[in-house]
Amino acid sequence: MLWPRFSSLLALVLIFNSVHAAPSQSGDARLIQFKDASGDLQTEWVPQAALNYLAGSRGSVDRTADIVADMSSAALDAITSVNRGPGFLDVTEFQNTVTEKRALKKRAYATPNPSNYPFLQDTYFNQVSADGLYDIVDVLSNNFTTRGYHSSVARAPALWIQQQFEGIVGSANVTLVENSFNQPNVIAKIPGTNSSEIVILAAHLDSTSGDPGSENRAPGADDDASGISILFQTAQILVANGYQGSRTIEFHAYAGEEGGLLGSQTVARQYASDGAEVVAMLQMDMVAYQPSDKPVLTVLTDTDAALVAWTQDLVTAYLSEDTLHTSTCGYACSDHYSWEDNGYPAVSIDESGPYDSSLNPYYHTMQDTIDHLDFDKAVEFVKMGLAFVVEQAA
Ligand SMILES: *[C@@H]1O[C@H](CO)[C@@H](O)[C@H](O)[C@H]1NC(C)=O
Ligand SMILES: *[C@@H]1O[C@H](CO)[C@@H](O)[C@H](O)[C@H]1NC(C)=O
Ligand SMILES: *[C@@H]1O[C@H](CO)[C@@H](O)[C@H](O)[C@H]1NC(C)=O
Ligand SMILES: [Zn+2]
Repeated sequence: MLWPRFSSLLALVLIFNSVHAAPSQSGDARLIQFKDASGDLQTEWVPQAALNYLAGSRGSVDRTADIVADMSSAALDAITSVNRGPGFLDVTEFQNTVTEKRALKKRAYATPNPSNYPFLQDTYFNQVSADGLYDIVDVLSNNFTTRGYHSSVARAPALWIQQQFEGIVGSANVTLVENSFNQPNVIAKIPGTNSSEIVILAAHLDSTSGDPGSENRAPGADDDASGISILFQTAQILVANGYQGSRTIEFHAYAGEEGGLLGSQTVARQYASDGAEVVAMLQMDMVAYQPSDKPVLTVLTDTDAALVAWTQDLVTAYLSEDTLHTSTCGYACSDHYSWEDNGYPAVSIDESGPYDSSLNPYYHTMQDTIDHLDFDKAVEFVKMGLAFVVEQAA
């Protein structure tokens, strides 16, 4: 997950309004431009909560190209602290292409039905492994000092993920999608047998403990090595059982999420401009901090209502012993928004919402380490990954 980091910004803030459509349920985020600490112009979608604060402290900003000058660093820090939620969407490098949201291509989904796929609960679910998840998070959070997308070692974790996926689905089924920074996205596929349509299960591979350009330790065990571990194990179980859907199943590990959904925007924009048919996208961002007695699966309800409702039904149908929680995250809290912005149905399941009291208190710090996580509960997210892709790709 990400939160807006205004503290490094400098004085000039331009507010854009009517020429750009708002990216989500309109009005909850706005496109702004500002100069960063290096004097470079940045263009970002910023959540309304932050702008409300800005308006409260600076007067109205609800005008086209309103220039907010001489903002003190204290004011910027205050915005950050009142808005410790998600998130901003950095569109600086895309501003000459499309900055408007594409219309959502709505879909109808058949009600989840475990009796259609008895092999899931009879076989696949029994193959989930808490130790397997632990081992992956251990490497990602301990063998790499940081996975910060602007660090000097940003590429290494992506290449390790590529190698792991090649071992699972075969090298011809794995590709890197490069970004403007030195950390690629990794995409692994299980090709469908009879359809060009695609189902996506995703997580982000980068980490942060404040500054994604720093070389400081940023273990990101929960955020989001835990999500990557779910992708690997879901793919492993499908391949071990020789599963192929009629639709293609893709596993996406995104770079630069903490920089404003950078890698997922690159990928989603590419798919949209290629006319790819993505029927459903599921993001898992922070799944293994589980302080309750029972595993908690939180469906974030901000995106496409049909897929959100279907995903809640999926949790209830397959994991009735667990706690289904719903929460909101506001605009652009994780990579599923890049898909929603490009017209594709997308949803996120996580351990909690960013405003919930059960949010991992260590996230975005050097203390986001493996010892705070509970993999016996996180295996439930592998079951969800399996059920999601099998129900959608069958
Ligand atoms: C991770 O580090 C451990 C301990 O140093 C080492 O034994 C292991 O081989 C490393 N694994 C990878 C994948 O680099
Ligand atoms: C790609 O995946 C398909 C489906 O699992 C598999 O049949 C094929 O062998 C894979 N390709 C390679 C080169 O491993
Ligand atoms: C492929 O899909 C089409 C359209 O959904 C269907 O009519 C056809 O029977 C399918 N073929 C196979 C081999 O499953
Ligand atoms: Zn995250």
